[in-house]
Amino acid sequence: MPDDLVVVRTADGSSTLDSPALGEHFHSLFGAVTESRHVYIRNGLHAMGKTKLDILEVGLGTGLNALLTCAETITRGLDVNYTALEPFPLPKQLWQAMGHVQAVGGPMTTNIHEQIMDNAAGRWIQVGGGFIFRWLPAKVQQLDATGAFDLVYFDAFAPGIQPGMWTAEVFRRMHRAMRPGAILVTYCAKGAVRRAMGQAGLATDRLPGPPGKREMLRAMRMQ
Ligand SMILES: C[S@@+](CC[C@H](N)C(=O)[O-])C[C@H]1O[C@@H](n2cnc3c(N)ncnc32)[C@H](O)[C@@H]1O
Repeated sequence: MPDDLVVVRTADGSSTLDSPALGEHFHSLFGAVTESRHVYIRNGLHAMGKTKLDILEVGLGTGLNALLTCAETITRGLDVNYTALEPFPLPKQLWQAMGHVQAVGGPMTTNIHEQIMDNAAGRWIQVGGGFIFRWLPAKVQQLDATGAFDLVYFDAFAPGIQPGMWTAEVFRRMHRAMRPGAILVTYCAKGAVRRAMGQAGLATDRLPGPPGKREMLRAMRMQ
């Protein structure tokens, strides 16, 4: 995890973290909340169309995807078990400074963000409504789950920054962790990533991307 992270405002008024040394942001500068809603909520959670589901997030980061999913869970009366992987938890002063609660709005509260981010590793907690959450201090390369998830939010740093996250080996692990019919969504639309997913047995689709990105990827485990 870079040690030069600073909070920066994105185009829709929500915030992200920037590492000048790495030349990488946690979210799109065209709008952090706009991107997360488009990629993970609209093309992931809503596209699944289920009311009860197990979600895996690769990279909890600032907790933005977890907050957006929690808000949807409460508003739509869903039942969601949410497991997030994060080998490098952020210092409290950084995630507290994001202003995600105001940016997400709806039923979100500071208390919910704190419950998620302050939770002990590995402990399931009921955060609000039917949103049950845990995070694991594990790398995706160590995940050893079989047929456990309906939906995967694959939110790693870009392939140019962290190529070891986007390999066929990692996507084989994702395939194994997914149930038949499960989907994986990511903001990345690179051809090499799509091919690695295909090598892992996932059926991929290019979808229109969020502002500033032409495309994103959605992959399905067929059987
Ligand atoms: C783009 S950020 C995720 C942003 C996050 N989803 C959010 O809503 O704020 C990528 C995250 O992946 C985490 N990460 C780095 N290496 C990882 C690995 N091997 N396995 C899982 N997560 C990893 C980083 O620590 C970082 O928090």
